[in-house]
Amino acid sequence: MIRIRDLCFTWPGSQTPCLSQLAFDVSRGERLFLHGESGAGKSTLLNLIGGVMLPERGEIDVLGQSLSQLSARARDRFRGDHAGFIFQQFNLIPYLSVLDNVLLPCRFSTERARRTGGSPTAEARRLLAALDMDPQLAHHPATSLSVGQQQRVSAARALIGRPELILADEPTSALDPQRQAVFIELLMSEVAASGGTLVFVSHDQRLAHLFDRCIELLAP
Ligand SMILES: Nc1ncnc2c1ncn2[C@@H]1O[C@H](COP(=O)(O)OP(=O)(O)OP(=O)(O)O)[C@@H](O)[C@H]1O
Ligand SMILES: [Mg+2]
Repeated sequence: MIRIRDLCFTWPGSQTPCLSQLAFDVSRGERLFLHGESGAGKSTLLNLIGGVMLPERGEIDVLGQSLSQLSARARDRFRGDHAGFIFQQFNLIPYLSVLDNVLLPCRFSTERARRTGGSPTAEARRLLAALDMDPQLAHHPATSLSVGQQQRVSAARALIGRPELILADEPTSALDPQRQAVFIELLMSEVAASGGTLVFVSHDQRLAHLFDRCIELLAP
């Protein structure tokens, strides 16, 4: 699913590399737990895997496609078709309703819309319900929600249309321990139902045992 070789990345203006000589593979259907201290480069790595930006050196292949060989536009399309992102800061569109935020990937990708089984709206409502969201919130603007609710909307948006790859950046940071466990269980079952691959970033090592494999990212 993911093949990373000799990956190096330095943020513009920085003297030290953020990621250096990184190499690992993730199999299809695998659930990977990626941890490391704050500033270790976890979010940077997820953005590189999602093709949001390109490595300085090295290779990242996703589904057998080398991301560096795609134009910026083709990378956006590739990400829209194949990857669901739960961003650390959620990145919900503030003026759109909860439902419209969840539907966004289906507006950008006909592939994702097709894989909802014909009714993106019904699938969005199903995912929100599975994530224990009150149906009455569907038409509220995203920013009127609590942080924990926004995190779950962000998860529903990542999962809609069954993308092959789910990239989750600290998706449980705003949830209390009980909601955290419920959320991870739901995320896992949705990912399993779609046969997807999950890369889950967290600094909370107590969650590691829930995953197939664990990789620690060390600050260079
Ligand atoms: N947009 C940016 N521009 C410049 N430097 C950045 C940018 N984003 C991150 N960095 C730098 O890259 C390094 C890694 O940041 P990153 O956000 O990937 O870490 P992280 O492991 O996700 O940390 P956290 O656990 O706090 O979320 C940090 O030193 C940070 O200052
Ligand atoms: Mg981060």
